[in-house]
Amino acid sequence: MTEELGRLKFYEYKKVEENLKPELLSGLRESPKHISPKFFYDKTGSQLFDQITNLEEYYPTEKEISILRDHINEICSMIGENSALIEYGGANLRKISIILDHCKGIAYYIPIDISTIYMQSSVNRLLNQYEDLSIMAISADFTKPIRIPDIEKFSRRTILFLGSSIGNFEPDELLHFLMNANETIEEGDCLIIGADLRKDSEILNRAYNDSRGVTAAFNLNLITRINREFGSGLSPELFQHFASYNGEKGRIEMYLKVLDNFEMNIGGEEIVFRKNELIHTENSYKFTIEGFSDIVEKAGFKVGKVWTDEENYYSVFIIVK
Ligand code: AVJ
Repeated sequence: MTEELGRLKFYEYKKVEENLKPELLSGLRESPKHISPKFFYDKTGSQLFDQITNLEEYYPTEKEISILRDHINEICSMIGENSALIEYGGANLRKISIILDHCKGIAYYIPIDISTIYMQSSVNRLLNQYEDLSIMAISADFTKPIRIPDIEKFSRRTILFLGSSIGNFEPDELLHFLMNANETIEEGDCLIIGADLRKDSEILNRAYNDSRGVTAAFNLNLITRINREFGSGLSPELFQHFASYNGEKGRIEMYLKVLDNFEMNIGGEEIVFRKNELIHTENSYKFTIEGFSDIVEKAGFKVGKVWTDEENYYSVFIIVK
């Protein structure tokens, strides 16, 4: 579906919704049970995630914003003139505003996100705020290859992938994602990628177990979503948020812990839940500069620049094709 309204083009690659139910159900049928983190981002989940980014314990947002601010002139010169700015997982307003306020050569802003509702509201605000900006919003699952219409007609393309969302990919998926990105852009174009760094496990565990319980609500919202999609009788009270840093694997692991033995009909299937069973909902990988640089080079790119904050909590990579 395509809609054209003045400065906005909106593309909806419908597959996302079509594949949702079978994918959710097959994860619950497996042992151990799992739910992909892409299901977090319905309307409530997207709002809860926004709240997470404002939590004192959740350092990645502030760290990334300060790195972007510190290097904004260099970022603008890389973005260049008559350029397309493509953002995967698009439109955190605070971050994108820093770039749009300073870099004047952006001819098109192209956010790509799985959550249509989340993107629509931020896109509308950006159209109001930036009167000369044109936007091509694409609602799609960017873990699969995406063709962006007319992308070759710009002088330059820059891909933004912020917030350490790359941390959700398994190492082989990350390599494939970068290789797909390599086909979207051309020689001389670049990617700007935020990557959360390995650090003391206490700081990491705090960031995913905040004192106000927002991350818990974000995780438990998956149960509310399953209820809505399937009309099953699952209650969030039957589950508990669990998140912990696995130092060996270099990742935060998130689960929903089952608090009781019960069976539930979900989408016509009887699913058995066991007390203390863990349903995996997210991996959030943390990187070393060397480790991430290796993957980048394997995908056929060169590392242009690496910026970190003073405490070395977080990094922003400039990756060049
Ligand atoms: C959106 C994947 C970057 O892993 O930090 C935040 C998601 N999950 N708190 C992250 C998340 C729990 C977030 N990413």
